[in-house]
Amino acid sequence: MNENLRIGVPSKGRLSELAGELLHEAGINFRRQERTLFARVSGLPIDIIFLRNDDIPVLCAEGAIDLGLTGSDLVSESQADVTVRMPLGVGRCRLSLCVPENSPIKECSQLNGVRIATSFPRVTERFLAQHNAQVHLVNLSGSVEIMIGLGVADAIVDLVETGSTLAANQLRILTDIGSYETVLIQNPRTKHGATCDRVVRRLEGVVIAREYSLLEYNVPKERLAEAEAVTPGFKSPTVSQLEDSTWCAVRVMVRSKDVINAMERLEALGASAILETSIRNCRL
Ligand code: PRP
Repeated sequence: MNENLRIGVPSKGRLSELAGELLHEAGINFRRQERTLFARVSGLPIDIIFLRNDDIPVLCAEGAIDLGLTGSDLVSESQADVTVRMPLGVGRCRLSLCVPENSPIKECSQLNGVRIATSFPRVTERFLAQHNAQVHLVNLSGSVEIMIGLGVADAIVDLVETGSTLAANQLRILTDIGSYETVLIQNPRTKHGATCDRVVRRLEGVVIAREYSLLEYNVPKERLAEAEAVTPGFKSPTVSQLEDSTWCAVRVMVRSKDVINAMERLEALGASAILETSIRNCRL
């Protein structure tokens, strides 16, 4: 193997696509030949290794890869010795303890003696220990949602994203065990610290840009303080003078999900020419 930094990326599934898009937007460009498990990044001393998603935390801890994109659920379950460098703003989900819609179980104190199917045995055991529940765990690597129907479990611990899998299997959430998302992890002993930092800065630029919009508006000077309170910005807004000295122009970053609300409040303050522009990338 060469001396390049190695990034582990899920080889298939939704997370594989999300990870690939993020890296490309961050200028970490590679082309994966069909079925190959390795790709070289153009113009940077970086190789991409395509791996099973659930192996990425362990392989990162063991030093097979320097960085990895994977779910924080898998980091937690593996208990691998890795550093979480940053959340990537995608793949948000919950890990939930679920029972059939018509189950008599209403709270965790009723779990004693119950059979629970899961592919997260360690996280589940830690949770059950906190509730002093003695259960029989059925450890599986997938398709957990059908195990009650197959008669091997009375409850499941599984990931919930939209809730459609639960609805399709007539299950309901008894309680949430954790919240997770896709993260960038790093081997704490990597020799490529500087290149890792460079990758982190690039990904931060994309992740922040995806969450924020640029808002521009004109506002009477006498209402500027109130307008700045509505849009305080990432650090602080850029304010410039208009030709009419009683007005100023503001440029500021606003969380995309808050933009509509902010526009309404700014308009009510007398602001005009309020424009939202999406940001592709940024360095703050
Ligand atoms: C995951 C998870 C649930 C489903 C939740 O399964 O295990 O089954 O997604 O998503 P939803 O709430 O949007 O329906 P995945 O498709 O990753 O495959 P798996 O069953 O092999 O884990």
